[in-house]
Amino acid sequence: MSDNLVVIGTQWGDEGKGKIVDWLTEQFAAVVRFQGGHNAGHTLVIQGEKTVLHLIPSGILRPQVRCLIGNGVVLSLSALMEELETLEQAGIATAGRLQVSSACNLILPYHIALDEARERALGQQAIGTTGRGIGPCYEDKVARRGIRLYELLDEAHFSRRVQAVMAYHNTILQQVFGAEPLASQPVINAALAYRTRIEPLIADVPDELYRLSQAGQRILFEGAQGALLDIDHGTYPYVTSSNTLSGAAASGSGLGPRALHYVLGIVKAYTTRVGSGPFPTELNDAVGQYLGERGHEFGATTGRKRRCGWLDIVALRRSLQLNSVSGLCITKLDVLDGLEVLKLCVAYRYQDQELTTPPLDGRQFTVCEPVYEELPGWSDSTAGITCYADLPAAARAYLTRIAELCNTPLAVISTGPDRADTLVLDPQLARAAD
Ligand code: IMP
Repeated sequence: MSDNLVVIGTQWGDEGKGKIVDWLTEQFAAVVRFQGGHNAGHTLVIQGEKTVLHLIPSGILRPQVRCLIGNGVVLSLSALMEELETLEQAGIATAGRLQVSSACNLILPYHIALDEARERALGQQAIGTTGRGIGPCYEDKVARRGIRLYELLDEAHFSRRVQAVMAYHNTILQQVFGAEPLASQPVINAALAYRTRIEPLIADVPDELYRLSQAGQRILFEGAQGALLDIDHGTYPYVTSSNTLSGAAASGSGLGPRALHYVLGIVKAYTTRVGSGPFPTELNDAVGQYLGERGHEFGATTGRKRRCGWLDIVALRRSLQLNSVSGLCITKLDVLDGLEVLKLCVAYRYQDQELTTPPLDGRQFTVCEPVYEELPGWSDSTAGITCYADLPAAARAYLTRIAELCNTPLAVISTGPDRADTLVLDPQLARAAD
């Protein structure tokens, strides 16, 4: 395959994108993050060794791959530097391989203070954010008062800008939320202290990507979170603050949409969600517990327990439409091993209607009840299987049914956390090594 690829989560995040991006990157010259920030948690396991990335693209573990952070990402300098240090301590050389768009908006301490104050004020209605300041940073961006990375390079200008923005936010912190104001000088000093380390990483990412494209080099766009957390199309207001859909790969990186050739939609074999909001197939029973335990369903960023439930085909169908998904990648199939019966949610019951697409009104979504189709489970282990024919017949039937209900072909199946536990069905995605 000589094309570029967009990898996105089709559910509420945590579908296992990081593993798939890392597995695929061998075939790519560059990996680009285009939205979100260090709210993401991408867990990679290579020969038993676990690495969790929040901000740096999952291509970083491959020495020949360039990693770029696009303008659509909100950037915490401290999180970036901490992650670089962790990678370097683990013996992963990053020098010369990571570039950050000069247009990234900076997450500064007042964004975190606002995130916390806002969640506290919402009480029972809290979104359940990751508390990383993501939402307030995107708010500043849209309000045209955000501070971009290139502004850090001019010390006097940067100081003036921070002071002005903080005067505004301190008023809100104090008068709206009754919270403590923050002193601006420590914020300015802490950011400026990163200047010498960040300066060599700053790049014109759109131009870099254009050049790579012109040179026939392949680019992988790495989505964070999931389509149902998209600010426009997700379960608003219980969403993140960025566009998480495949289309955002163009605007969030600076390479035009004709360069997005193949969209791989990552689908967990069941559903999970962290944070609040509607989740029609949620299981508060022994099966939900089973999925959570076998799937190690704890947030990679906050350590929070993820809510677990059956695979929701209704929500998934919407997601596949929104993202123009070319092929499905089903992850964590092995977590379902040992369940006698599996359920797929094929419609929602809303009042006296049966819906096959999710309602646009979040209040209606909250009261939808799942309508299930049952399929037999399997008792054999699928863990680590890399050949489709070796899967139990019931597992194959489950996967085929998902593809049929979604009207989208199966492209990749993941049968375990390791890079090696991967089975390819779409020859376009097969690696030379497979
Ligand atoms: P925020 O992105 O921190 O503002 O959080 C908004 C919502 O998105 C909350 O429900 C979070 O739990 C959820 N969220 C943010 N990042 C991730 C992620 O990487 N995986 C899953 N959920 C996420």
